[in-house]
Amino acid sequence: MSIRTLDDLLAEGVSGRRVLVRADLNVPLDKQTGAITDDGRIRAVLPTLGALTEAGAKVVVCSHLGRPKGTPDPQFSLSPVAGRLGELLGAPVHFATDTVGESAESTVAALADGEVALLENLRFNKGETSKDDAERGAFADQLAAFGDAYVDDAFGAVHRKHASVYDVPARLPHVAGRLVLREVEVLSTLTGDPERPYVVVLGGSKVSDKLAVIEALLPTVDRLLIGGGMCFTFLKAQGHEIGTSLLEEEMIETCRNLLERSEGKILLPVDVVAADAFAPDAAHDVVPANGIPSHRVGLDIGPETVAGFAAALRGSVADGTANARTIFWNGPMGVFEMPAFANGTRGVAEAIAESDAFSVVGGGDSAAAVRALGLDEKSFGHISTGGGASLEYLEGKTLPGIAALEN
Ligand code: 3PG
Ligand code: MG
Repeated sequence: MSIRTLDDLLAEGVSGRRVLVRADLNVPLDKQTGAITDDGRIRAVLPTLGALTEAGAKVVVCSHLGRPKGTPDPQFSLSPVAGRLGELLGAPVHFATDTVGESAESTVAALADGEVALLENLRFNKGETSKDDAERGAFADQLAAFGDAYVDDAFGAVHRKHASVYDVPARLPHVAGRLVLREVEVLSTLTGDPERPYVVVLGGSKVSDKLAVIEALLPTVDRLLIGGGMCFTFLKAQGHEIGTSLLEEEMIETCRNLLERSEGKILLPVDVVAADAFAPDAAHDVVPANGIPSHRVGLDIGPETVAGFAAALRGSVADGTANARTIFWNGPMGVFEMPAFANGTRGVAEAIAESDAFSVVGGGDSAAAVRALGLDEKSFGHISTGGGASLEYLEGKTLPGIAALEN
């Protein structure tokens, strides 16, 4: 990889220099209280920030949070993130209440060596996500003025052709941060020559989101286990009654075609937890996957499915399957935020944790599930901070943020 790294930048010396760090501090917030519910992405960027402050850089951090529409929107303020980042760094983080305006200018100008500033949400500015090169470029000019060098440590956003990800590195000396390097290192082992058996577990709500990755993975994997909301379109494609479960009608034919071409590699649920309603306290039962009652909605995979998936992950004497040596998991198996429908995700996560395989957890919901279910993060090989980014990497797509670092 022809990418310069943080170590290269540190070797040049950064003391007294302003270093602009693009981070992905897009953390989930509690809808009622606005509190940060999972700070995994903040912790993931600490190694890079710590190395820079220790070396005496003036560190200017920028990030997006949520999807505001190019104008300030208080519910998406990074202000709570500044507080948490300061706690974790053990030093105050100076927060700018705008991204490239007066507050940002004075905050950056006032930074002492070894101090950290966080700019307000990048997406409060139209230029950040604009499809117009000139509009993005103009915003990138303003951002780039805050740094003498640029570090990309926002792995979760490398698949976005946004000003802070794609255009700023064209304007400043640029390097990959520790997190981006580690993510790319790990994911490239999956697209290279993974140790076999290589088993992939996919869940989440939509087949359409996962279609490209399924296509890309099918020739490579030994087993592809499918759960979560997306499994119902596959079950429907097999001709089963799925009640009121999630269905992507226009994907049925595609699923049928995938199943035909999969040479038996795709494993679908054999039982599901079907409920009266999409609610935490809804009445529910375990039913066969080929007989979901018409008025019921499938909200989790069932215990027999968990056992079957666990056997495919850990190996089973009964059907002679070998222990997986490499595992990639993206997407919950059910509505794990509701305890009644969390067993599938928990069971599969535990089987992955207990296996001897090198396991990679795709970011977003599955990474949050690992922490929300109280599983030990150390029992997984790598927990990615990128949901969409890790999927697009595995699809073999060119990622704008990585391409920008290569130039
Ligand atoms: C994510 O949460 O997947 C990343 O932070 C990217 O966010 P986005 O999907 O809104 O671009
Ligand atoms: Mg996303």
